[in-house]
Amino acid sequence: MVARVRGPARPQAAAATAVGAFRKPFMETLRLGHPDLGFGLGLRNVHFDHILSRRPQVDWFEIISENFMDSRGRPRYVLDQIAEIYPVVMHGVSLSIGSTDPLDRDYLAKLKSLAAATRAKWVSDHLCWTGVASLNSHDLLPMPLTEESLRHVAGRVRTVQDVLERPFVFENPSTYAGFTGSTMTEWEFLARLADESGCGLLLDVNNVYVSSVNHDYDPETYLDAIPPERVVQIHLAGHTDCDTHLIDTHDRPVRDRVWELYRRAIDRCGPVSTLLEWDASIPSFPELHAELLKAKTVLGEDPCASSGAASRSDAASEPVAPHPLHHAAALVE
Ligand SMILES: [Fe+2]
Repeated sequence: MVARVRGPARPQAAAATAVGAFRKPFMETLRLGHPDLGFGLGLRNVHFDHILSRRPQVDWFEIISENFMDSRGRPRYVLDQIAEIYPVVMHGVSLSIGSTDPLDRDYLAKLKSLAAATRAKWVSDHLCWTGVASLNSHDLLPMPLTEESLRHVAGRVRTVQDVLERPFVFENPSTYAGFTGSTMTEWEFLARLADESGCGLLLDVNNVYVSSVNHDYDPETYLDAIPPERVVQIHLAGHTDCDTHLIDTHDRPVRDRVWELYRRAIDRCGPVSTLLEWDASIPSFPELHAELLKAKTVLGEDPCASSGAASRSDAASEPVAPHPLHHAAALVE
C-alpha cells in the first residue's frame, strides 16, 4: 500500500514571492520528495544520434513510455545509454485512468519494469480516458468532472500507485469539449484528486491556456488554484490558433502568453522541473534546446549557466519514475 503523502500547508504567502525566496529545505519537503531536475526535453528518435555523439548540456529527458516498453530494438538500446548519462522521467498516454474498463495489469507491469530499468524519477500520464469496452480511441478524452468520477478516478489512482509502489503524477489535458453534467472545475478536480489519492501533478501551462480559451475561463484562476506543493513537473509547448479555438499541436515555439503563465506558475510553485514538448515539425536539437533555454530567460536566469538542479551524475544511482488528443497514437513509434 502506498502511503498517502500530504504536503505541508500551502505556501499561500508565496503566491507573489520571488522564486529566490523559496529556501531549499522547504522545497525538499514538497513535490512528493521529487527533486527539481532543472530544464529538460522530450526525447525524440530524430535526436538520438546528436545526443549520443554530443552529450548536450540538458538537465534531463522525458520519454514517452509506450515508445519503449515493448521495444528491444535500437530505441531501447539508445534509451539505456541515455539513462546512464541523464535523469529520465516517464510520461504515458495509455493508462486511461478515467475509463470504466478494468485497469490493464499487463500495461502496469510493463510500466513498472521500464521505470526500474531506466531508474525513472517519476511516472506520469493524463487525467483522461482513451477508450471504453476494450475500444481504444487513441485520443486523450476529457473527463466528466463530478463527485462520482472523482471517487472513481481516485480509487483507480490508488490502485495504480499500489501496483507501481510509488506515487503517480497526472497532467491536466488540453480539452476541446466538456460534459454539461460536470459539477466542478478542472482545477478543483485535480486539487481534490491529489489530496484524496496522494498523487502528484504535472502542470502543463500550455494546456491550461489552450483549454482556458476553448472553454472561456481565466487561466490565472486555474494556476492560482492548483496546490503548489503537489506540482512535480511543468510542461511547456506550442499551440495553433484557429481563431475560434486553440489546438495543442506541439509543433512550434511557446507563445508569449504561455511564457507569462509559466512565470506566474513558477512564482507560485517555486522552482519546478520544467520540460519543453515538441512532437511535430521537430526542429534540430540545437534549435529545440534554444527554445527550452528561453525558460531560464523568462525566469531571469542566465541561459548559459548550468542549473542548480539535481546533478546528472545521480542519474544512474537513484531508483525512484505526456499529448494532445490527436497526437496520442502518433507519438507511439
Ligand atoms: Fe503536456
